[in-house]
Amino acid sequence: MKILVTGCCGFIGSNFVRHVLAKHKDYRVVNIDKLTYAGNLENLKDVEGDPRYEFARGDIADEKFVVQLFEKHKGEQFDALVNFAAESHVDRSIMGGDDFITTNIEGTHVLLKAGMHFGIPRFVQISTDEVYGSLHLDDPPFTEENKIMPNSIYSASKAAADLLARAYFKTHGYCTLVTRCSNNYGPYQFPEKIIPLFVSNLLENKEVPVYGDGMQVRDWIYVDDHSEAIDLVLQKGRAGEVYNIGADNEVANINLTKMLLRHLNKPESLIKYVQDRPGHDRRYAMNSSKIRAELGWRPRVDFETGLERTVKWYLDNREWWQRIKSGEYMHYYEKWYGNR
Ligand code: NAD
Ligand code: TYD
Repeated sequence: MKILVTGCCGFIGSNFVRHVLAKHKDYRVVNIDKLTYAGNLENLKDVEGDPRYEFARGDIADEKFVVQLFEKHKGEQFDALVNFAAESHVDRSIMGGDDFITTNIEGTHVLLKAGMHFGIPRFVQISTDEVYGSLHLDDPPFTEENKIMPNSIYSASKAAADLLARAYFKTHGYCTLVTRCSNNYGPYQFPEKIIPLFVSNLLENKEVPVYGDGMQVRDWIYVDDHSEAIDLVLQKGRAGEVYNIGADNEVANINLTKMLLRHLNKPESLIKYVQDRPGHDRRYAMNSSKIRAELGWRPRVDFETGLERTVKWYLDNREWWQRIKSGEYMHYYEKWYGNR
């Protein structure tokens, strides 16, 4: 199995690459990543020397680059493409949507066109529960049949990409599959997202900014459980289908914050309620019975264990997040690849 993955210098992609290389001796992986602020070569430092792994710096929205890459691999073409690359942070999409439209929509379209043209047999689009919009507290969790009703520029751009994948299947019969997962947590998550931001702030005895009343609910899943689900969809998912992924683990932000305080033995006085995020979705929750029944997937890591493991990782890897917070990690590429 030779797969092209995109955006794997980020959080989920880097965990996915590590996961599949460890699990399948016969997988080979080529990773294309633009190395935006969220892309960090340190995230895959441990597989850099693996002959089954190759990295190419580039932009998925740059058609010339993408086509050249497929041309280069024409002799032994990819068996599948998994598209993780995205602008992924809601707060940044409030500040400005341009990069979200270019990468998440135009970039996905470039990959779909090229994937179809070069005959890549399977195309997996990594999406999010956020495309379904927001739930009320008494609503049932999202199924794949829920309407697409995104509320942020981030989720609207992801929804557009999902619909393009659907259209390539309906119009051209191209084998696309879409996975929609809930909020991930684990090692290597960029410290702008709530868990790594709060853990790293608390380790420096800084306040943690809770938006609004803190009663928004997210459905948390450990990143390795997500990787396992993607790998199953990649191998066995049905063409044209959407698969929800979630671990049935709804937690209100304020409760999550208090759990983190307890793990780190920090006082509640470090909680700072701040102005709410505009358009803030109240609740996400996933019904993942389809992937469980069809592909036999189930999450393995419960929240207590996963959170403990995650907090420990940020404790043991202070340098990783300190270098990000100081901006130093950006020089890694030049240091390691600049003069090759
Ligand atoms: P991330 O922000 O940590 O990483 C994104 C990666 O994509 C970075 O390495 C970045 O350099 C790269 N990238 C951005 N623009 C690019 C471009 N134009 N060309 C090539 N590479 C580019 O994101 P993440 O949290 O790892 O999310 C990965 C995917 O999973 C995204 O598609 C996201 O929508 C989806 N997702 C995330 C979550 C979550 O909780 N984080 C949940 C469900 C789905
Ligand atoms: P985030 O990690 O940005 O993921 P998403 O918006 O994609 O769900 O935020 C998770 C929840 O935490 C969301 O309800 C917003 C909230 N939040 C805060 O209260 N404070 C913060 O500083 C951040 C980053 C998020």
